[in-house]
Amino acid sequence: MDYQSLLQDIRTYGSKGWAIVYGVSGAGEHERSAEGAWITGHKGKRFLDCGSFALFMFGHGNSKILVALQDLLSHGLSGTSRVLCHAELAVALKKLVALTPPHLQKAMLLNSGSEAVEAAIKLCRLKTKRRKLAHLGGSYHGKTAGALSLTDHAGFKADTHPLLQDVVRIERGDMAKLETVLASGDIAGLFVEAVQGEGGIHPIEPAFLQMAHQLCRQHGTLLVADEIQSGLGRTGRLWAFERSDIKPDIVLVGKSLGGGIVPVSALIASEAAFSPFDHNPYLHSSTYGGNPLACRAVIAVTEIVQAKNFLPGVEQKGTWIESALDQLHGQFSDVLSAYSGFGLMRGLHFSSSTYAAKTLEYCLKTGLLLSPCLSNPTVLRLVPPYCIEHSDVDYMHGILQQALHNCRTLQESS
Ligand SMILES: Cc1ncc(COP(=O)(O)O)c(C=O)c1O
Repeated sequence: MDYQSLLQDIRTYGSKGWAIVYGVSGAGEHERSAEGAWITGHKGKRFLDCGSFALFMFGHGNSKILVALQDLLSHGLSGTSRVLCHAELAVALKKLVALTPPHLQKAMLLNSGSEAVEAAIKLCRLKTKRRKLAHLGGSYHGKTAGALSLTDHAGFKADTHPLLQDVVRIERGDMAKLETVLASGDIAGLFVEAVQGEGGIHPIEPAFLQMAHQLCRQHGTLLVADEIQSGLGRTGRLWAFERSDIKPDIVLVGKSLGGGIVPVSALIASEAAFSPFDHNPYLHSSTYGGNPLACRAVIAVTEIVQAKNFLPGVEQKGTWIESALDQLHGQFSDVLSAYSGFGLMRGLHFSSSTYAAKTLEYCLKTGLLLSPCLSNPTVLRLVPPYCIEHSDVDYMHGILQQALHNCRTLQESS
């Protein structure tokens, strides 16, 4: 199917808005195949994937994950009766819990990030018997009704109000507000991303997170670490919250948990926090949640991240990227005003949203995929897979250098 007919079908049978987004993005190619860090378009053009909204931490078509899935499918097992249990679930739960600090002992498998957030909202309310929830400025927790209520950006909410009531917003770093809100003693759960993703790759100050942790303990609020984007090694630590030495009551994981192949997410909690779901399994469930195929992907992913060289590899590749960004920032600080993040989760901060948009467009046309921050248009996300090579970083550097140069020329000519 040619590109224009494909767009036409999306426009006619799906969202016109998506057809416009695909149309104006300018690449003129649709995805045909992918391997490792690279996607190949239908006309043969190759794109280095440093975007995909941080889905492909383990690369495209990771062979360890694919083999595990193929083996399971060859036995005819993919969905589950939900009456008979299956071995994959037991193994996946055990392995996932083993990846987290010892105080987290229970897990539940779901399908999407937002669904894990919904489960956490419910658990916080059930456990504390309180209604109020708190989130930080710049947060992104998803787009289903509950998750959207904890997502900061007003543009995503449009005319969908009323969402959840009793939601309190705390500005990042505002310790006084944090203290007042939690001291009220009526907050069921405080949701944080230790490194905010969609909001603009903002690492939250460890001192702020430590204070949040302490206040949550003191006032009976559950601390929820949303690691859906930052977890599973992306920041060079298995969990981004480890950088702040805090002990969340609930951890949420998604995106790369299914290797970019199977949709799967998880809620992992302390035994105490999980108790309502322990007592009544029907309080939260989902037909596809914890299906054998998803469990196989989870098992394979836990084995990948536990390999001895995995985290040091992420750290090392993170330093390659950091030195490329440092050089670009030094050369073009009038355009690229800052960069942020850790490991393979980086933010490019531009001095104007026009520069960010022009860079995104140029990179896409030239063969480099980055992800925008839809709620923060001056920031682009650079979130490559861990299989990225040094030559790929050189390639990325070359394209970004030209993109930033073009922005400067634009500035000079205006
Ligand atoms: C931190 C965070 N939480 C929740 C979500 C929602 O996940 P999903 O899009 O799978 O529903 C995302 C998605 O980008 C995310 O980055």
